[in-house]
Amino acid sequence: MTDLSTTYLGLRLKNPLVASASPLSRKVERVQRLEEAGIAAVVMYSLFEEQIIHESLELDHYLMQGTDSFPEAMSYLPDSGTYSLLPEKYLAKITELKRAVNIPVIGSLNGVSKGGWVRYARLMQDAGADAVELNLYYIPTDPALTAGELEDAQAALVADVKASISIPLAVKLSPFYTSLPQFARRLSEAGADGLVLFNRFYQPDFDLEELKIAHTLELSTSSDLRLPLRWISILHGSLDVDLALTSGVHTATDVLKAMMSGAKAAMMASELLHGGPERIPAILSELQTWMEVHQYTSIMQMQGSMSRMSIAEPSVFERANYMKVLSSFRDLP
Ligand SMILES: Cc1cc2nc3c(=O)[nH]c(=O)nc-3n(C[C@H](O)[C@H](O)[C@H](O)COP(=O)(O)O)c2cc1C
Repeated sequence: MTDLSTTYLGLRLKNPLVASASPLSRKVERVQRLEEAGIAAVVMYSLFEEQIIHESLELDHYLMQGTDSFPEAMSYLPDSGTYSLLPEKYLAKITELKRAVNIPVIGSLNGVSKGGWVRYARLMQDAGADAVELNLYYIPTDPALTAGELEDAQAALVADVKASISIPLAVKLSPFYTSLPQFARRLSEAGADGLVLFNRFYQPDFDLEELKIAHTLELSTSSDLRLPLRWISILHGSLDVDLALTSGVHTATDVLKAMMSGAKAAMMASELLHGGPERIPAILSELQTWMEVHQYTSIMQMQGSMSRMSIAEPSVFERANYMKVLSSFRDLP
């Protein structure tokens, strides 16, 4: 019998398929359907630093009106229909999900600066989350900000979040760091138990008729897999963290590649949003069949087997490969 189980952040997963942060986790019934279909864990949609700060500013504003007394001041709050305490709802959703499903539930915090909002990591733990994923989505636009300053701030934030929780912490990253292996090591030293590679950056487009910026979210395809695949292959074995792959996982082949690069989990959003939970049993069954045919007995056995450290020609992940790839293009007639 083929063993599809893996471990991620110290959590035992029945297989490597994890639903990554997306609207899939907004409704309890949707997560129950994912669990029934065979998903091994779910990362919740993100709670953003801006949402937390915004809500606490509004709360301050209401509390300041007329009285210093908290219980009395609460009566100034509009009822929950018109004034919803979003971060509180998020925490309640974690508790609700934990009651409704048996798979691990990972809370997601999305932010970049140190501050009081970080306490929500602890609140996620208290609400029942099995782990926290911190998404460091940031676009630098200030020419005076150095890479070093930015990385210092992000590593300090990771250390802060880690210090406030006792459950595992994963950090979701963009691919845009000058020396990703070094920064990954810093994050590991700052306390990250896992790294999730990579955030998908939603690039704005131009609407030429309206002369506006167009924001459209396009789902990924399997070709998006190559970027995280390369970097997980490079990082695997060099750091004391679990690696999870996100971006471009759509098929059993993609999952197999993710595992062979060294990922502990293959995260999916686009495929599940597009194809529904029924994609999960289809992918699992294909995975199983492929492993049987190729005589693999377990997922763990293949993890990292195609990583930079394991293959005979590690230069394929490096600069040398660039020239090879360019010359592999067949010349024009
Ligand atoms: C509609 C949508 C909403 C998303 N929301 C979040 C989010 O709240 N937090 C987060 O970290 N990632 C979010 N993501 C990114 C996904 O978790 C995932 O990393 C990305 O889509 C790449 O994976 P995929 O190729 O399987 O879609 C979202 C993606 C989509 C498509």
